[in-house]
Amino acid sequence: MRELFVANWKMNLGGRNSLEQVRELCSYCQQNEVAAEVVLCPPATALFMVGEMLSNTDIVLGGQNMHYEDKGAFTGEIAPPFLKETGCRYVIIGHSERRQYFKEGNDLINKKIKAAFRWQLTPILCLGENLTQREAGKAWETVENQLAEGLEGIDSMGLAGLVVAYEPIWAIGTGKWAQPADAQEMAGRIRAKLGEVDNLRILYGGSVKAANISEYMQCEDIDGALVGGASLKAVDFIPIFDRQNS
Ligand code: PGA
Repeated sequence: MRELFVANWKMNLGGRNSLEQVRELCSYCQQNEVAAEVVLCPPATALFMVGEMLSNTDIVLGGQNMHYEDKGAFTGEIAPPFLKETGCRYVIIGHSERRQYFKEGNDLINKKIKAAFRWQLTPILCLGENLTQREAGKAWETVENQLAEGLEGIDSMGLAGLVVAYEPIWAIGTGKWAQPADAQEMAGRIRAKLGEVDNLRILYGGSVKAANISEYMQCEDIDGALVGGASLKAVDFIPIFDRQNS
């Protein structure tokens, strides 16, 4: 399966700052044969501009979040067709920062996942336990519940193409990364739980960097990574998604 690397810029690189990074990534990908699929998820205000820059390149655009309704009185929200209009093909749903700071629950996330499929946006469903849950031996229970409730009501045919990102919360932006064996165990369980879903891809996320990515990519059930901090600079991101040439 083709490897998938998703850059989650979060609330960074919103405007002009992103131009230079996007230009560098585009020129690298034009000059090198990059085997992996690379997705950039800039902040909403930069989507149009970045989308234009990525047209005619192999790099793909993604949103960091969206509302589940097609339009309406939802001040500050972004509808799925708006993401489509900017050229997005992917959308991150249920990132732990949205769960934690914006109180997104599995029921809301479920609606967003359904909306993404309805609009032919590939959802990147984020799952992960916090440190207390891991230390209490409840990591899988937590993830299993997020998975079941987040995908409720969608059969395996409807889930074709789904991307799941396993991101232990204690590893996000902390510099602490999960043991590859632990990440593999969770990815394997997620795959087993989802059963026969066509073209399912599972990513690991949480302090991924050039120095640790190879270990994750050796894991049987890990198809790529969701990268925050180390995706903000092209020089850091390139050796993660193109370990062959860089
Ligand atoms: P990080 O973020 O790579 O900075 O840990 C990952 C993420 O939140 O998706």
